[in-house]
Amino acid sequence: MATGEKGARATVPALAAQGLTLSWNGVEVVVGDVSLEVGAGEICCLVGRSGCGKTTILHALAGLTTPLAGRVLLHGQDVTGQPGRVSYMLQKDLLLPSRRIIDNVCLPLVVSGMGRAEAHARAEPLFGRFGLAGTQRLWPSELSGGMRQRAAFLRTYLMGTDVTLLDEPFSALDALTRVDMRRWFVGMVGELGLSALVITHDVDEAVFMASRVYVLAGAPSAGEASHVSGEVAVDRAGMSSEEAFELTDEFLIAKRRVMALLG
Ligand SMILES: Nc1ncnc2c1ncn2[C@@H]1O[C@H](COP(=O)(O)OP(=O)(O)OP(=O)(O)O)[C@@H](O)[C@H]1O
Ligand SMILES: [Mg+2]
Repeated sequence: MATGEKGARATVPALAAQGLTLSWNGVEVVVGDVSLEVGAGEICCLVGRSGCGKTTILHALAGLTTPLAGRVLLHGQDVTGQPGRVSYMLQKDLLLPSRRIIDNVCLPLVVSGMGRAEAHARAEPLFGRFGLAGTQRLWPSELSGGMRQRAAFLRTYLMGTDVTLLDEPFSALDALTRVDMRRWFVGMVGELGLSALVITHDVDEAVFMASRVYVLAGAPSAGEASHVSGEVAVDRAGMSSEEAFELTDEFLIAKRRVMALLG
């Protein structure tokens, strides 16, 4: 385990931010010169205090905004300011209350021009795999919080790219459901062959899920643009189960390093 190492990641990262400087209004800089990488098949987490600019970064990585400076690379290709190149889940799950679950999860397919019947046929077989068997015809209000998040993640997956960004995906859930969901999520990312960047406030969650945790520090509302204060690599080599990992010295050491970088 190491802090601040860039490491010898020889292969092209699935996603890279290079020197991103971002503003929400084109004038005030929220984050300055942020660089990070997500390797193929890797889960990285971005941790920072409320208001430090995490969502601002996610929007830029998703191509929803254009940076003042810097660029976003997807498998080495410049995709700065191009939406639709990575999948993303916004800070709220945003399931539409007036649409059944099947129509909610099919939204990205329908928006991209696929017929409703074909979209349903594509999504239906995935319901069991996402722990949503039998919920197709239900309304969002009839699902538990965890089920809603899994539906939102299925919808994100159906955006169809291998790189996925999630903004506080589990923050609205109760503590026990969160623990179950983070374990489920790590398994799904591996099973589906995705690369993921997860934004979270929760240091335990970040250390549990990520192979590397990026720490964002600063106070943009006080005129201090945020920056990546460090990167903590999490070493699970030799671990037999994720459950046990939370009880290990390695987990606590990584957690302490993240806390120190948060300031
Ligand atoms: N539309 C806006 N109007 C005013 N300020 C904004 C706007 N959008 C973002 N900001 C400011 O930019 C900064 C970063 O916001 P951002 O939403 O990226 O933070 P965050 O780290 O995601 O916070 P949280 O953890 O609470 O979700 C904050 O100081 C916020 O007040
Ligand atoms: Mg946010």
